[in-house]
Amino acid sequence: MTVSQHDNLQKLIKLLTTAAANASLYHSEHRQVIRLCRQALNELQLLFNTHSDVTLKVIEGQLIFDNKPVVENLSVNRLLESLNRNGISFLKIATDVYAEELLGLINILSKNPDKQIAVKDSENIHFGQVEIRFTRSDQHQLASWDFTEIATHEADRFMDIYQTVRSKQKLEMTGINEIVNGFVNAFNCQSDAFMAIAPLRAMDEYTYTHSTNICMLNLAQAKALGIAGQLLNDIGIAAMLHDIGKMFISPDILSKSEQLDDAEWQIMQQHPRLGAEYLLNTPGVPRLAVVTAFEHHMRYDNSGYPQAANSWQQHICSHMTAISDTYDAMRTNRAYEESLDTDQILAIMLELAGNKLHPRLTYNFLQIISERDKDTEPSNYTTL
Ligand SMILES: [Fe+2]
Ligand SMILES: [Fe+2]
Repeated sequence: MTVSQHDNLQKLIKLLTTAAANASLYHSEHRQVIRLCRQALNELQLLFNTHSDVTLKVIEGQLIFDNKPVVENLSVNRLLESLNRNGISFLKIATDVYAEELLGLINILSKNPDKQIAVKDSENIHFGQVEIRFTRSDQHQLASWDFTEIATHEADRFMDIYQTVRSKQKLEMTGINEIVNGFVNAFNCQSDAFMAIAPLRAMDEYTYTHSTNICMLNLAQAKALGIAGQLLNDIGIAAMLHDIGKMFISPDILSKSEQLDDAEWQIMQQHPRLGAEYLLNTPGVPRLAVVTAFEHHMRYDNSGYPQAANSWQQHICSHMTAISDTYDAMRTNRAYEESLDTDQILAIMLELAGNKLHPRLTYNFLQIISERDKDTEPSNYTTL
């Protein structure tokens, strides 16, 4: 699903749920309902340009379109609620759908306490249950859906967003929010999604692969601690943006395969401050992302950079990001250092717990990793 198809779908859902809300409030022939229904029909036509039908499924409480979870928002949640209320987990709208039929669907989705509306198939709208409507190939497709697919799908988009920052243009927060929502959804569908953390394949993919790895690892940590809702999303966004300050560092320094000299290291150490300043002045960025960008190299004992007073209290998200960052750096072969296997990494991290890394959070992390990351192979590229 492309970005514009995703936007069409979101618009369609919003129009349908708003029309249903109006139908509950007034009646299904109200001119507001008719107007919204007509607009919904237009959005459907746009989707029919690329889809032979529009099929929505509800699986484990999530709305699925094109075998991917639809990014949740108020309208999507309203639609889910209406579908659940009516016992619908499969909804197929065929290309020849006409206004009256769509109005029938809006009526079903509306919450009219006075009359119970029967859920009945019409010529071009079909209802059902996922279990009985699934074909074998549908089931196979769903089983094979995984985080890697999302990662590949979003990679270009994310790199565009980062490159825009490098050319001193505005950061597109909507894009970042949607990507993180996709990851959070992937976690909800597949609890071991973080196993898919990607090795660094090439320098130009560094920002993407590293940022998504840290995002996955942070989400895994946060979920294991019982964190959910907006805070979970903000932790994911903070992870995606933690190294954004590197966009202001010369690519020659970023891509250097030998160890940095003193002057270069000084420049490199500016990236937390540069990132935080940039994010602070960007509308729509959660405060947590600003704080995390600034603090993620400080270390548990405040011995890192930027320098901080001993009394400085770092945010829990900064500690988590430092842990994920340390792990991701060690599991990736660096050009000038020996690669490490999982047992070695775990031993080093245990050693760092309580001085460089937050002890309790590190134990939480090690528990997750030792259970699920035993077979991950390190890759062959440079990390900074
Ligand atoms: Fe960093
Ligand atoms: Fe990093």
